[in-house]
Amino acid sequence: MSTTHLEDPSLEYTPEVASATAHIYERISDMVPELEWRLQAPLIHEILRLKQEVGAVILAHNYQVPQIFFGIADFQGDSLGLAQAAMEVDEDTIVFCGVHFMAETAKILNPEKRVLIPDLEAGCSLSESITAADVRLLKERYPGVPVVTYVNTPAAIKAESDICCTSANARAVVESLDVDRVIFLPDEYLARNVQRETDVEVIAWKGRCIVHEQFTVAELRSYRDQFPGLLILAHPECAPEVCNEADFVGSTTAMINYVDESDAPRILLVTECSMSDNVQEAHPDKELVRPCTLCPHMKKITLENTLAALRRGRYEVDVPEDVRVRAHRALTRMLEIGRDD
Ligand code: 13P
Ligand code: SF4
Repeated sequence: MSTTHLEDPSLEYTPEVASATAHIYERISDMVPELEWRLQAPLIHEILRLKQEVGAVILAHNYQVPQIFFGIADFQGDSLGLAQAAMEVDEDTIVFCGVHFMAETAKILNPEKRVLIPDLEAGCSLSESITAADVRLLKERYPGVPVVTYVNTPAAIKAESDICCTSANARAVVESLDVDRVIFLPDEYLARNVQRETDVEVIAWKGRCIVHEQFTVAELRSYRDQFPGLLILAHPECAPEVCNEADFVGSTTAMINYVDESDAPRILLVTECSMSDNVQEAHPDKELVRPCTLCPHMKKITLENTLAALRRGRYEVDVPEDVRVRAHRALTRMLEIGRDD
């Protein structure tokens, strides 16, 4: 913990802070040791106070740590759910505890609002896997073939696209176009997983998620051997053969909903591991088997930099208006389709 933190009197663990945050600690005490909590509770308390003062709302992705997910977020969800939530908030400032493309999506949909991301380095390997020039070349190579773009991309890529999709609606988006083939960017595995579900020909790019590409069939089988009756849920950014080995494949929110409905005593979520912590909290009766695979980008967001975002109004996300307008069109077409999971 930084000295500044310890020297800041508004960040002391006083009896008032302890009592105001006790209900949060009750939820996450299994995951956060008391010593750690004494440093984190004042940050949470101050964020909650400042959020009111500034008139801000905090949106947090399902991969955020429990202290952020349960402690400070007003809305939690997957990429689609958070994009939908961003359009419904009344506050003038949105603080995005997620990665840059998600904050940028919120800005594209709400140009009049101030959108802050606590760390500009919170990127995504899929977002970095393609450039707008690559998309233009693909369009030249496949003239007239519509471009479907996963939201895990920068605004400039969305602006070159006909329509966006998320893991919650990829197949429905592809089929909504009523064509024989589509260019599907940039996640190769998501494209191949969609291909398994549709007769539309899917032309893929070569992007990969650095978290989900790590899972293997052998690893899943070894978990099944170790934990009898194990229910396996996978994210569609995993390789198709890994998805094939799972009992269910869906977006992060679809996985959470599936667990909510399931009677299985042991569950493996083949995705980023903070989500297992958050699901475990909601289901103390279940055993969440946790191969810990962290997304280094999601983990750039902390209580400390979220507080700094609110105090200093940083880092503001902006999109040039000509790009925003074209990206907005692709996102709106997707939002009209909504969820399909
Ligand atoms: P979801 O939209 O399913 O939450 O996925 C976003 C993501 O980045 C997964 O790695
Ligand atoms: Fe990107 Fe993968 Fe991290 Fe999701 S988990 S933000 S797809 S790098």
